[in-house]
Amino acid sequence: MRKVKVAIIGGGTVGGGVWQALQKNGALIAARCGYEIEVNHVVVRDPAKKRPVRIPKRVLSTDWRAAVMDPQTDIVVELVGGLETAEEIVSTSLKQRKPVISANKALLSARGAALWKLARKHGTHLYFEASVAGGIPIIKVLRESLVANRITDIYAIANGTCNYILTKMAREGRAFDEILKEAQDLGYAEAEPSLDVDGLDAMHKTGIMGSILSGFWVPEKSIFVKGIRDISPMDLQFADWLGYTIKLIGSIRCMHSEKDQKDGWKRPVLELSVEPTLVPKSHVLASVDGVFNAVFVKGDVVGESLYYGRGAGQDATASSVISDIVDAACDLHQEYEYTLAPFEAFAESGVVRSHADCVANYFIRLEATNRPGTMAQVTSILAEHQIGISSCIQPENHVGETVPLMLMVDQAPFSVFSRALTQLGRLKVVRSRPVYFRVGSFE
Ligand code: NDP
Ligand code: HSE
Repeated sequence: MRKVKVAIIGGGTVGGGVWQALQKNGALIAARCGYEIEVNHVVVRDPAKKRPVRIPKRVLSTDWRAAVMDPQTDIVVELVGGLETAEEIVSTSLKQRKPVISANKALLSARGAALWKLARKHGTHLYFEASVAGGIPIIKVLRESLVANRITDIYAIANGTCNYILTKMAREGRAFDEILKEAQDLGYAEAEPSLDVDGLDAMHKTGIMGSILSGFWVPEKSIFVKGIRDISPMDLQFADWLGYTIKLIGSIRCMHSEKDQKDGWKRPVLELSVEPTLVPKSHVLASVDGVFNAVFVKGDVVGESLYYGRGAGQDATASSVISDIVDAACDLHQEYEYTLAPFEAFAESGVVRSHADCVANYFIRLEATNRPGTMAQVTSILAEHQIGISSCIQPENHVGETVPLMLMVDQAPFSVFSRALTQLGRLKVVRSRPVYFRVGSFE
């Protein structure tokens, strides 16, 4: 049996999970792939810390550089999170021609392009299955299993923490902060949970998927992001009445030039966004609840397909990290002869369309004064902007000086829609900042 030695840098939630799963299933993994995977280092900040997963003292250390430079180390796994130290760990390892596995989507999103160039320069690979959708093997699906396709659309629930919070708010009507704390205790949330709730973590993942399918590295600043902080239990209830649920959706549409059918894929145009979206209850994404993630993919050959599983947490993420360790072990010994690179920059040029020009349907909720003429003022602003109304609801018998007024509006470019929204917010009869969500059609 051939042996590979792996240094795990970071022994927290995910690192602990990787250690634990290798102890549990190491013999089975070796029987399947022909490599015995031995962990020679687990590097942490504080070896004295009490850990839910017991890691023996003989492998624990605090010096990541020593673990990376150890001539015995074949493969490095970066699981510390954050940007600066993580980047140093990854680049130092690649320069040593050691394959690296990382679950760090923030790092990949910000510095991915440079790190892949570095890996290529040193004849090695950077693997990142666990960086998107936890335990769902979506990276492998996009780069290998769907290689026959031009992928045109992806709609993803890609943040477990947000989906957990929204599910609990809708079902149990509990407060946002209380549920967030629960998600942190369960090991789902990022060290800095604003990355989750402000949509940035889903943005990182959406950008990574967009890059793989389009073949150019998507600059993260080009992705429109809106988090879940503005969603109230009332919005979830109204969405429910209207036949929808609200999910944080990462959306990718990849278009190719019409006149350039054959080679259009060389010059892709992308629309990317992450925002709370009304999902029709009849759509499969509406039933993805709790920490579960799902990625709905359309390809021109395969048609529609759906990938579902746990999007965060110790064991699910460890499963993806270990699949990369096995790939790296096999690749290492075959000298990358039979390998599809984790990221291939095949596009000649690529463009991300400005969100201002992207067209969608929207839901608007206004807190409006309950008196004659209010509706006329609201509808005239929408008419001035050529925005059509598809439905309008004001709950009957609402007590109080103001009433919630909900409108569903049709097909408007975001720039036009947001100008109309600003004007609605300035009306004297509208008493607080208008709330809006995109309405997903997924067509
Ligand atoms: P944790 O905070 O639980 O673990 C981080 C680990 O890194 C800890 O063991 C910490 O040591 C160690 N560490 C931090 N800085 C250093 C340093 N300078 N030198 C040595 N060790 C260091 O994070 P997670 O395990 O949750 O996340 C790790 C990565 O995986 C992140 O990039 C995250 O985004 C990603 N990820 C997380 C998922 C999840 O569900 N949690 C899912 C998918 C990806 P110590 O224990 O002593 O503090
Ligand atoms: N914080 C992330 C989430 C971890 O909740 O989805 C998995 O990437």
